[in-house]
Formats: sequence, C-alpha cells, structure tokens
Amino acid sequence: MFAERTNWNLAGNRLSEALARHRAGGKRLFDLTASNPTECGFAYDTEAILAALRHPAALHYEPNPRGLESARRAVTEYYSARGAAIPADDIVLTTSTSEAYSFVFRLLCNPGDELLIPAPSYPLFGFLADIQDVKLVRYPLVYDHGWQIDFHSLQQAITPRTRGVIVVNPNNPTGHFVKEKELAKLNELCAAREMALIADEVFLDFALGDARRVTFAGNPGALTFAMSGLSKIAGLPQMKMAWVISSGPGELKRQAMERLEVIADTYLSPNAPVQLATAVFLAQRHGFQKQLLARVRRNLAELDRQLAVQEVCSRLEVEGGWYAVVRVPAARSDEELAIEFLTREDVYVHPGHFFDFATEGYLVLSLIAQEEEFAEGIRRVLSAV
Ligand SMILES: Cc1ncc(COP(=O)(O)O)c(C=O)c1O
Repeated sequence: MFAERTNWNLAGNRLSEALARHRAGGKRLFDLTASNPTECGFAYDTEAILAALRHPAALHYEPNPRGLESARRAVTEYYSARGAAIPADDIVLTTSTSEAYSFVFRLLCNPGDELLIPAPSYPLFGFLADIQDVKLVRYPLVYDHGWQIDFHSLQQAITPRTRGVIVVNPNNPTGHFVKEKELAKLNELCAAREMALIADEVFLDFALGDARRVTFAGNPGALTFAMSGLSKIAGLPQMKMAWVISSGPGELKRQAMERLEVIADTYLSPNAPVQLATAVFLAQRHGFQKQLLARVRRNLAELDRQLAVQEVCSRLEVEGGWYAVVRVPAARSDEELAIEFLTREDVYVHPGHFFDFATEGYLVLSLIAQEEEFAEGIRRVLSAV
C-alpha cells in the first residue's frame, strides 16, 4: 500500500519509551535536552510580535514564488548587519529550514543521488533525505583541540553520484564554525567536482567568542545554498519563516534560481501575515539573542565549575550554538547511561549516538535549559556517572 521510502521503523527506542513512562508517572524531570526557545523562559517583545501579525496588507493575496519583497528585503538587512551584501532576488522564502533543505534536495538530486553530511550532526537529515529519495553519505568531523572537517575522508566519500556537501555552520551539537581555510577547500572541491554546497546557518548568530565568523551566504566560490530562518535567530520557530540564498558562478546561479523558483511556485508556502511581520520579527532578535547568549554562557560556566571538581567527565570545546558535548566513561552505551539518568536521577540528556558520534562516551546537553534546572541536572549526572 505504501511507498518504500516510508518504511520507517517507528517503534520507540528504549530511551523514548523510558521518557514516556517518566512523563506518564508525573515525576519531576530535569530536562537537559530543552531546545524549544519559546518554553525556556525568555522574555519576548510580545506586543510588537502580535501587533506585527495584524498588517492590513495581509488581507490581500500577492503570490510571489520567491516570497514577498518586503520580507526578502528584511532578510537582506539581516545580512548587511553582518557585513554581507545579499541581493533580495537571490533569496527564496520557505516555511522552515527543513523545507528549504527539501527544495534544494529536489533541485539537485535524482532518486538515489548522494549528499555528504557531517557526522556528528543534527538527526533530522535522515527523514528529509528519505522523503526526497536522496542517499546520505557521512563525512567525519574530527576532534583535536577543537572540531574540524576530515577532508581526506570527505574526498574519499565522493562518488560519481555525489551532488553536494552539507555543512552546518556552526554545527549542532558540536558548536564549531567552518573556518576560512575550510571554506576555501570546500569551494575548490565542489567547483572541481560539480557539487553544490548546502550550508545550514541557523545558529550563525550564537558565537561565544569575538572571532569574525564565516558565512556561506553570498559565497561566490561554488554553487551555494545558504539557509537560515527565524526558528533560532529570532527564537520564533512557531512563525514558520526561513529562507535559502543562492550564490556562486553567475550562469549556474541563474539556472539554479530559475529552477528553485518553479519548485517554490508549486507550493507558495509562506503565508502573508508572517511574511509581512518578518521585518519586525527580525528586529526583535537582538533582545532575544542577548538573553539566550547570557544563558548559554552562564550554563557553560556552571558546567565548567562542576566539572572542575571531579576527574571522570570533561567537556569538548564549544565555539557557538546551544549545546555542549560532555565526554563520559564509555563503560556502558550512551543510551544505557541516558536511561539510567532518567530512571534513577530524573534527568533527561541526549546520548551521543542520537547525533551520530562515531563512538560511545558522549552526552549532549542543551545550554538553553533554565539555569537552576541545568545546575541541578548536571549535579545529578556527575554524581551518578
Ligand atoms: C542545525 C539545524 N538546522 C535546522 C533546524 C530546523 O530549523 P527549522 O525550524 O527552520 O526547520 C534545526 C532545529 O533544531 C537545527 O538544529
């Protein structure tokens, strides 16, 4: 009855079942996986957000495959504040970064074509690829006083069916940014092998240090699709507004935009009220980002304080984003460890294997969890390890 691409194993895993039991039992939960910014106690400019949704122009339908020009101009202003000049015509608005990925996968890949994805990284890619009939091939990130792309393995992973390389900048959950030299190598590789670069920059604004960070938006060195949206940068995932920016060698980019426009025109996904409110939503990002970064810094400092008085666990370097990776003894699987923390300590953490870490011995913690909950959760985890 159903397409093979939907033959997913939908049975819950042991951890999700343990979590469901925990919740059903009504027990207290120290949730160190929290990633929904609207549930983490941040103060939003609620008046401005709600007022923006009442724009009178929302009573008119003005279909535009790339999205309303006023919203695209707001996106160009976001980039010009970062020092990148992005023409509004190179932007296609979508309802989420996930939708932007699916448009780009459709643009680049025939069924069975391959895309390279980083490991460890964000676990959504598997489903996105299945739905678009794309095969994902992992390229490793290696940790040696900070994360970096293993270019040797990346090159070995390329086959005649490889259509592009996905980068997450900064990556979730490793929190590392792509460096200038890595960008130059990626450009060289992709341009030489007729592959595209697909850059997910939803966490771009959440850098912890002062170093200037590379953005792929407007990257001229290879055909590039840079994606971001309001979910993270403005803390408004419920508004469903994101975008993809095409750049690269002139003729390739022109053809890509022409085709992308047809894909977008087929759906015309973003709704008028949210598009008309996008400039206001983006303007309120500064207050949100300030609170979020302060939270991330305080939680990271608390984690370091608690790690400093024991010798069993350590954390990996974090350059940005909302997560910390903690190295734990690999005597048991990460999943068993996470289940034990949940059942005995009432603490929920993500095991590393959820993000495709190559070995056992890693836990992923959300740095946007509320501070008291975070501190108590860490205390319980470290005393139980
Ligand atoms: C790296 C990364 N990309 C994309 C997304 C999803 O963004 P959107 O809500 O715009 O689909 C997430 C959500 O957690 C993410 O971590």
